[in-house]
Amino acid sequence: MTTASSADHPTRRDFLYVATGSVAAVGAAFTVWPLVSQMNPDASTIAAGAPIEVDLTPIAEGQDIKVFWRGKPIYISHRTKKQIEAAQNVALASLPDPQPDSARVKAGHDQWLVVIGICTHLGCIPIAHEGAYDGFFCPCHGSVYDTSGRIRQGPAPTNLPVPPYTFVSDTKIQIG
Ligand code: FES
Repeated sequence: MTTASSADHPTRRDFLYVATGSVAAVGAAFTVWPLVSQMNPDASTIAAGAPIEVDLTPIAEGQDIKVFWRGKPIYISHRTKKQIEAAQNVALASLPDPQPDSARVKAGHDQWLVVIGICTHLGCIPIAHEGAYDGFFCPCHGSVYDTSGRIRQGPAPTNLPVPPYTFVSDTKIQIG
């Protein structure tokens, strides 16, 4: 007979039932994952240089993300109007490694900057959205890059390199 107190307080049998249910749910989650992960190249293939696709949808205007391709950090910046204008309105003659912004982004997609995030001085990893030009700042010896990833101050001799990439769609790129 069920009493008021056993309905309010779970019995040992109730607990076992709930616990078993949780294990089954976790088990199901683990069985789905390998099927999904099989569809992606494995880690060693990616490390060896397989192209990677990146969905740009979650990157809000003004944000950056970092992904890895061939073991290198790649910064993807969703530039604001102000950042794009700053990158375009620079006198090229004032740049240590003169390159127009248009040569560093894809035509029609100039809100997206994709660069290899390795300082061209001695290889440190610059920090995004830092420094006087709202681009990248390398804390090792003070190199400052602008919103186009071009060197503006400090000892780095050249701009942050742009990796090979293409737009697969308006919201997806393939790097490599
Ligand atoms: S490694 Fe970046 S400034 Fe030296």
